Amino acid sequence: MATAAAHRTTAEAQDAEAERTAAHEAAFDAAVAADERIEPRDWMPDAYRASLVRQMAQHAHSEIIGMQPEANWITRAPSLRRKAILMAKVQDEAGHGLYLYSAAETLGTGREELLDKLHSGRQKYSSIFNYPTLTWADVGAIGWLVDGAAITNQVPLCRCSYGPYARAMVRICKEESFHQRQGYELLLHLSNGTPEQHAMAQDAVDRWWWPSLMMFGPPDDESAHSAQSMTWKIKRHSNDELRQRFVDIAVPQAEALGLTLPDPDLRWNEERGHHDFGAIDWDEFWDVLKGNGPCNEQRISQRRTAHEEGAWVREAASAYAAKHGKAAA
Ligand SMILES: [Fe+2]
Ligand SMILES: [Fe+2]
Repeated sequence: MATAAAHRTTAEAQDAEAERTAAHEAAFDAAVAADERIEPRDWMPDAYRASLVRQMAQHAHSEIIGMQPEANWITRAPSLRRKAILMAKVQDEAGHGLYLYSAAETLGTGREELLDKLHSGRQKYSSIFNYPTLTWADVGAIGWLVDGAAITNQVPLCRCSYGPYARAMVRICKEESFHQRQGYELLLHLSNGTPEQHAMAQDAVDRWWWPSLMMFGPPDDESAHSAQSMTWKIKRHSNDELRQRFVDIAVPQAEALGLTLPDPDLRWNEERGHHDFGAIDWDEFWDVLKGNGPCNEQRISQRRTAHEEGAWVREAASAYAAKHGKAAA
């Protein structure tokens, strides 16, 4: 008898729990449908939380790994003005990483854990940063094309359904637009400079154009997370839509720069109202993603070294916080 009663109680408790979950789910779906923001204390499906953590972590990692290719040129910037601009830009990227790791913390995932996953190769960063910066003009091409592609991707994220991510993106996008403009202005100077400078600018654009198009991720029909992210309003536009938007923006800018884009199939399509462009080498994309790009090993080993060498700063900061916490108590 007692066992039957216990069974009944367990079954009732399960029913009540299922009812609560259903009510939570309905409230979550309604909030997303009404374009309201989901905040850290709100109930959210486990898969939504996991998907956000994965995307925000990958984004944060890209910001801090992305400091390396450009930092490579700080000591060799051609003037004090250029050096000051580049240092500010690289520092901004560190800040973007911090906003995003903090935003991920609101979902219950600590920075230590995410950095550990980056360092052990269990989480990725944008593959674009596995290409080398061979000349000073690469700083311009990265600003114009890589930061430009990042803005195209990130402006819609300012309306992402998760509040802390959306708010971090507002500030990041403002800074990214400065990054894009400094790169454009740098290339404009080189393009209108000596024939050697012009050639250097053209060579950098030739090397960065295709990897920039790959930054939008695989084509829509091969993109694993896209459909669900769009339903949750984390993502607002598909990879191919954003890539097309970027190409349409870049073509007239290239003309104004007096530089060409390395794609013989690039032309205006009157009917579509967009530029057609050539086939992207997806084999290269997957290969670099798998770790076989020109700089994958270097980027991760530098990151690990920086983390290890910064251990004393983290220890000192914790000791300071503990001391002052005690004093305040
Ligand atoms: Fe950034
Ligand atoms: Fe940037």
